[in-house]
Amino acid sequence: MSLDNNQGTPFLSRKQRFEIAPSILAADFSSLEKEISKAVKARCRWFHLDIMDGHFVPNISFGPHVTQCVRTSFPRIFLDAHLMVEFPFKYLPAFVKAGVNLVTVHAEVCRDALKAVRDIHHAGIYAGLSVKPRTSIKVLEPALKELDLILIMSVEPGFYGQELIPSTLNKVRDLSLKKQKDQYRFTIQIDGGINEKNAPLAFAAGAEVFVAGSAVFQEGNIAENIKALMRSLENAS
Ligand code: DX5
Ligand code: ZN
Repeated sequence: MSLDNNQGTPFLSRKQRFEIAPSILAADFSSLEKEISKAVKARCRWFHLDIMDGHFVPNISFGPHVTQCVRTSFPRIFLDAHLMVEFPFKYLPAFVKAGVNLVTVHAEVCRDALKAVRDIHHAGIYAGLSVKPRTSIKVLEPALKELDLILIMSVEPGFYGQELIPSTLNKVRDLSLKKQKDQYRFTIQIDGGINEKNAPLAFAAGAEVFVAGSAVFQEGNIAENIKALMRSLENAS
């Protein structure tokens, strides 16, 4: 994967219009390596790690140790850590050490959005900010120039397998228009309830990276699930 910014986003190559990022939260953790391998064989190169602390969200997931194990088994994949935690900067060094390429923190727990982005960059990795469904994208304004990624939550964070909240697509649309108008370089990621039916709608709104948990790992065959998602996005693009 090219990490050079040749098109306004640091992640997608010039010809590439979307990326599917499986969320391993919905995988079978007793055979995590096999599950990720199947997605890699189906041409996924970007994986999404949902980190939950039981405070910012009412669920607990996994931390730097599992992250490090994934990195060791898959040295070349792009890893983005979505920190749904109350004190993300306490854990930032551990995730950097575990080998993630990008860390996303929630704007709801940052007093200064720009400082948050700069602190992540200072740690030597790409920086993302996320907003929950009811948080306005206005809070991201001070950081837009320096952000690498904006994660629009399309469900209330905490659990995989929920349904996408349609009104969140308006935020994707607004951000996409702003990005085009002011030539920002951030990439727009959408996360929560993405499936082959609604992915084209999110794409039309301007989403570029599609996090998918249950649509990839929960039912049926992982390779077929990814193919179906890719097909729906290719038809939309
Ligand atoms: C929710 C997480 C999502 C979720 C995605 O808190 O941030 O990444 O696991 O899973 P699905 O695609 O099943 O909503
Ligand atoms: Zn997530």
